[in-house]
Amino acid sequence: MSSEQPATAPMVDDKALPYHSQIHIETARPNETTFSTREYMYKRFLPAILTIFALLTIFRSTFVSNHHYTPGCGQTLHSEIIKEMERPKVELESHGMSRCPDFKDCLRELILPTMEKVNDRVNFTLSYIGRIDHKSDAVTCMHGPAECLGNIIELCAAKIYPDPKIYLGFTNCLTSDYHNIPQRDFVEGCAMEHGIDFQKLNSCISDEGEGIDLLRASVLRSQQNNVTKSCTIRLAGKVRCIRDGGKWYDCPGGSSVDALVKEINALYEAQEA
Ligand SMILES: *[C@@H]1O[C@H](CO)[C@@H](O)[C@H](O)[C@H]1NC(C)=O
Ligand SMILES: *[C@@H]1O[C@H](CO)[C@@H](O)[C@H](O)[C@H]1NC(C)=O
Repeated sequence: MSSEQPATAPMVDDKALPYHSQIHIETARPNETTFSTREYMYKRFLPAILTIFALLTIFRSTFVSNHHYTPGCGQTLHSEIIKEMERPKVELESHGMSRCPDFKDCLRELILPTMEKVNDRVNFTLSYIGRIDHKSDAVTCMHGPAECLGNIIELCAAKIYPDPKIYLGFTNCLTSDYHNIPQRDFVEGCAMEHGIDFQKLNSCISDEGEGIDLLRASVLRSQQNNVTKSCTIRLAGKVRCIRDGGKWYDCPGGSSVDALVKEINALYEAQEA
């Protein structure tokens, strides 16, 4: 394939397909060997090219949104994607509580607008704050069992739909009216709005589901990072900003979206590909 790169482009074209079905005629026409070798190439590499093309289509929006997409330049795009994937993403994390107004502000004012701009450069983690009883392993939440369930619902969504565009949109929908968490109609409405399968969500949060384990692990993660305030935003392992009592503080570099985006871009570009 490497010596015939330009020939790869038409293969994703519909025109390439008839070649495939004519392969058996080749042996009857030995004087067309050059051409039949090409046909063999098509047969052999067509599935591979189609696979790459399918992957490109799937990952294009996530990984190359800031590159120009030129249809037919599969090979170029492919190497761009590899580069983008090899460079480690910047760790961004928010620690919150589903029924906390500061968590709502955190998502709406800083996390969502930032992720809209640098989603493909960030490994985002959504974490929750609570207490773990060391004897029973039970988790308790500051705003009661309703909040614990809300946290579980949001963690389950993130687990089932790892794309932040989906689960953060859903979580933002829930927190925008957090008093209604965890009413079924309300959760179902947000799920529908964000293309989340409510049945899948429901089985994750059920007693047999993994929801409670997700919550326990998440609470433990916040504890291990000494995070106690909802909402705390950490960038590359360091506290970047805290939203607490309706105010931002501990925000070296400021609490604006632009400042955070700039910092993420700088961290990302400073990393080796
Ligand atoms: C993203 O962050 C989580 C939590 O720190 C980590 O477990 C995971 O491996 C990271 N993923 C990537 C692709 O870096
Ligand atoms: C959390 O605090 C403890 C005790 O002050 C300290 O030993 C530990 O290194 C801290 N962990 C992190 C991740 O900052």
